[in-house]
Amino acid sequence: MRARSTTAEPEAERPDLRSAHVIVVANEKGGTGKSTLSIHICIALLKAGFRVASIDLDTRQKTLTRFLENRQSWAANAPWEVELPFHCALERSNSENLHDNETVEFGAFASAIAEIEHSYEFVVIDTPASDSYLMRLAHSLADTLVSPVNDSFIDVDVFSRVHHDRTQRGQIAHYADLVIEARRRRKLVDQGIIDWVLVRNRMSSIQSNNAKQISASLAKLAAELQFRPTEGLHDRVIFRELFPIGLTALDPIEEAMRSGSLSASQSAARREVETLIATLQLPERSRGLAHLQARHEWYERIARYYHDLAMGGAAK
Ligand SMILES: Nc1ncnc2c1ncn2[C@@H]1O[C@H](COP(=O)(O)OP(=O)(O)OP(=O)(O)O)[C@@H](O)[C@H]1O
Ligand SMILES: [Mg+2]
Repeated sequence: MRARSTTAEPEAERPDLRSAHVIVVANEKGGTGKSTLSIHICIALLKAGFRVASIDLDTRQKTLTRFLENRQSWAANAPWEVELPFHCALERSNSENLHDNETVEFGAFASAIAEIEHSYEFVVIDTPASDSYLMRLAHSLADTLVSPVNDSFIDVDVFSRVHHDRTQRGQIAHYADLVIEARRRRKLVDQGIIDWVLVRNRMSSIQSNNAKQISASLAKLAAELQFRPTEGLHDRVIFRELFPIGLTALDPIEEAMRSGSLSASQSAARREVETLIATLQLPERSRGLAHLQARHEWYERIARYYHDLAMGGAAK
């Protein structure tokens, strides 16, 4: 497929796309919902029939790994088919020498990526909140970068310093700087682009003034920092209570429940995850497209979006 003449990239600079579409779930702010989103994105893609691999870069907490271990034990006796990704959990390197640690961790990450990049359609990478060499490397590999944000100005502050007079523009903050640098490196390495999607998480069901202000702040920052703001998940018990048995709202949990049906909140949770996946606008297998071709179409669409956004136009 040929690029429209208005896209940011001339035809000669099209990247040579690998078959795996890499989704990195990250935000330097802790506890925003990175692992929760990684889990739900992973399971949603598996349920859609894609070949999915996952990598846990959080060598300390290993939340994604723990969830998948729980899911594997459930799968052993489950009354239905339980989908599992091909999973790689990175181990922490604990030598005295920081440089040696980085070398070992880089080697482990590089071999995990090499093992999966040609045989899986999606790779979902969960990351720790701390800034590290490995975390920066993961950012520069991302095709889609998903950053969960809670409805709090403390969360917005890692993207742009929140000024007491919010009509004034704040300075670009440390995490946004990290993404800008990752985008620059990515462009140099393979002309790739990173589609950065800010996903609101743990939204309250009561529409507060604070939530409206956060939504307005993110919409204002989107053009400057070049991201797509989206509504994501509400704060719901179902998004956390199934962790010990390795299930999600997307699994047929109604079959295991005495009532045989989902509650209104559980059904809403399922729809929210489905909407989130649609909002991510990932390459899809529609009209019998081969995955790599779908990746190329994705690239054209996203390049056009960011080009229009940079031009201050009505990006869709
Ligand atoms: N939409 C949601 N509804 C209810 N609970 C949620 C939701 N999202 C996350 N949580 C809960 O919030 C807490 C933090 O979530 P999670 O561990 O996914 O964040 P994280 O960004 O991965 O944290 P860390 O930076 O420590 O890795 C967990 O207790 C999780 O169960
Ligand atoms: Mg986590």
